[in-house]
Amino acid sequence: MNAASAIGIGLVGYGHWGPNHARIFNGHPDSRVVAVADRDEGRLRAAENVIPFVSTMQDHRALLDHPEVDAVVIATPLTTHYGLVKEALQAGKDVLVEKPICYTAREAQDLCDLADQHDRILMCGHIFLFNAGINRLRQYIQDGTLGRVYYMAATRTNLGPLRTDANALYDLASHDISIFHYLLDSRPIEGSAWGETFLQHEVEDVVFACLEYPGQLLCHVQASWLNPRKERTLVVVGDKKMAVWDDMQPLESIRLYDKGLMRQPHYDSFGQFQLVLRDADVLIPKLPAVEPLKAQDLHFLECVRERKQPISDGAFSCDVVKALEALQRSLHRGGSRQRVDDGTRRHSVRTEPVAAAETR
Ligand SMILES: NC(=O)c1ccc[n+]([C@@H]2O[C@H](COP(=O)([O-])OP(=O)(O)OC[C@H]3O[C@@H](n4cnc5c(N)ncnc54)[C@H](O)[C@@H]3O)[C@@H](O)[C@H]2O)c1
Repeated sequence: MNAASAIGIGLVGYGHWGPNHARIFNGHPDSRVVAVADRDEGRLRAAENVIPFVSTMQDHRALLDHPEVDAVVIATPLTTHYGLVKEALQAGKDVLVEKPICYTAREAQDLCDLADQHDRILMCGHIFLFNAGINRLRQYIQDGTLGRVYYMAATRTNLGPLRTDANALYDLASHDISIFHYLLDSRPIEGSAWGETFLQHEVEDVVFACLEYPGQLLCHVQASWLNPRKERTLVVVGDKKMAVWDDMQPLESIRLYDKGLMRQPHYDSFGQFQLVLRDADVLIPKLPAVEPLKAQDLHFLECVRERKQPISDGAFSCDVVKALEALQRSLHRGGSRQRVDDGTRRHSVRTEPVAAAETR
């Protein structure tokens, strides 16, 4: 750690998202952004204007050599993630990298192994694991409020921003896949996806993907940057209750519906049942006002300080990439069902993030 015992952060990538990390790490007494690397000179000038005493450089290797950099935050395009994370781990730095961690599970596993070899913290910015609404949903699933979950359906649409290095599956649906994994503490068996490349060659702008989890549980996501409406919603249908999360309403993002179809004995014939509609109250729980990115970045600091395994560690991120790879194969094979590689490493199931994320 550097002289003032604050964790020295080196930020690689100061484009659209990087400045948000800089604001959080520089605004917290336990950390200080000491260096920013970006290939674009203009972005370095922008960083110098808002971050006091920061060193700036175009080459990330100069940042890795900076004596005050303890941990590295990578907010560059997906194409660069694997190489930058690898070099940062080899340089002995703890790493927080933006989502998704990389393109392939093989690369992700490689990064997990490197982090283990060098005894470094490796975390991926799966920001929705730190969202108060998502954590409330997780609580409803874990404490049985929803009963058996039949299916979940997510929508993540907007008009732009377009990416050239990642399609709507890797850029947008990766968020929803991380949410499915986190909510269910489970990993999918198979998946299929349809999509189209309307605007760019070989980059799907629109994707409809479905994953099957153990217990006949279906999770669907519609992801697109070619849509007039900005939507970030998730519907969870259980046999006891149903819930809807709408991230466009951050303080009232959850609605818990006491609705469903119940089996009741049929009066005409013994042993027969009929389905009866239950349509009762809707609850809007009060949620803590937590900025998810802040909760995520503070979790990283806590893991660095206390040498704890992050909830979105390399193994968790690798499992997200396994699902993405299966869905990408399906996209290339006309939507056919593809097995999700179940590999050998598993994310350990943890429960404390629910409380942790809500109390920050
Ligand atoms: N968690 C979220 O909600 C969220 C939101 C937006 C973006 N992101 C993620 O953040 C990452 C960056 O996205 P963005 O929108 O800021 O992209 P961007 O293109 O706006 O910015 C990327 C920056 O990285 C710089 N860069 C590229 N390669 C570099 C290299 N090798 N060394 C140093 N600098 C380099 C570019 O010059 C640019 O300034 C992506 O992985 C994206 O998925 C996450």
